[in-house]
Amino acid sequence: MTRIAVVTGGARGLGLAIARLLAARGHALVLVDRDDAVWDTVEELRTAGCAASAVVADLTGDEDVRRVRDFVRETHGPVDVLVNNAGITRDARLATMAEADFAAVVEVNLLAAMRLTFALETELRDGGSVVNMSSRAALGNFGQTNYVASKSGLIGFTRGLALRWSPRIRVNAVAPGLIDSPMSRAMPPQVLDGLVARIPAGRIGEPEDVAKAVAFLASDDASYITGQVLTVCGGRSIAP
Ligand SMILES: NC(=O)c1ccc[n+]([C@@H]2O[C@H](COP(=O)([O-])OP(=O)(O)OC[C@H]3O[C@@H](n4cnc5c(N)ncnc54)[C@H](O)[C@@H]3O)[C@@H](O)[C@H]2O)c1
Repeated sequence: MTRIAVVTGGARGLGLAIARLLAARGHALVLVDRDDAVWDTVEELRTAGCAASAVVADLTGDEDVRRVRDFVRETHGPVDVLVNNAGITRDARLATMAEADFAAVVEVNLLAAMRLTFALETELRDGGSVVNMSSRAALGNFGQTNYVASKSGLIGFTRGLALRWSPRIRVNAVAPGLIDSPMSRAMPPQVLDGLVARIPAGRIGEPEDVAKAVAFLASDDASYITGQVLTVCGGRSIAP
């Protein structure tokens, strides 16, 4: 039977890689992104013979979240997998960080994920699974206090919800380190090179490295795993 997966931030980067892998593994995809480019992903997946549709929505808006829920309810029926992947950065030293930039990052990375998850609670099938996209940065990163707060908050949400929804639905998080994507490419090249040099694996991560971890947690192979964080960072989290 075709499994249904909802993936946010599926227009590019990690979300695109996750959509491709879940589609290749037999899921029908519902992609959610505020960027119209999400339709390019849909077209690519359909050309590859996979079932895919999209909702263009800003997940920080209640009305848009309701539209996503209604679309899923009316067109797809019970959902097997929800991947809360959409996220943003607004980096600055804490001393100069505008409160609006702190709030905007928490709003998208933590609160929007929480709202969509609760909105889809009744749409998730028994035995379904939620995967939240946290970050290795949840442990701390200079110039990213807003991002760190949002991503560590998402881990707290993951643990709390895993307990609340057990045994009906599993809830886990993936915490990527530095991954090659439009988000990381927005950094100055010398900063990016310096960060890559500190990764024990000796290379930047590929979106597919993260997609494989998401697909594992979303699958029945992970049926005894809930409330956990799978760190995918090439060993960066254990490096001095
Ligand atoms: N790239 C990395 O190195 C890295 C590392 C750790 C964690 N992450 C996390 O992985 C996720 C994906 O990162 P990425 O590198 O692919 O980022 P990206 O910027 O390339 O893609 C993010 C996607 O989310 C969408 N999005 C952002 N805000 C949205 C909103 N309010 N409503 C709907 N869609 C929205 C964007 O349009 C975009 O398509 C993020 O949560 C990010 O924090 C990335």
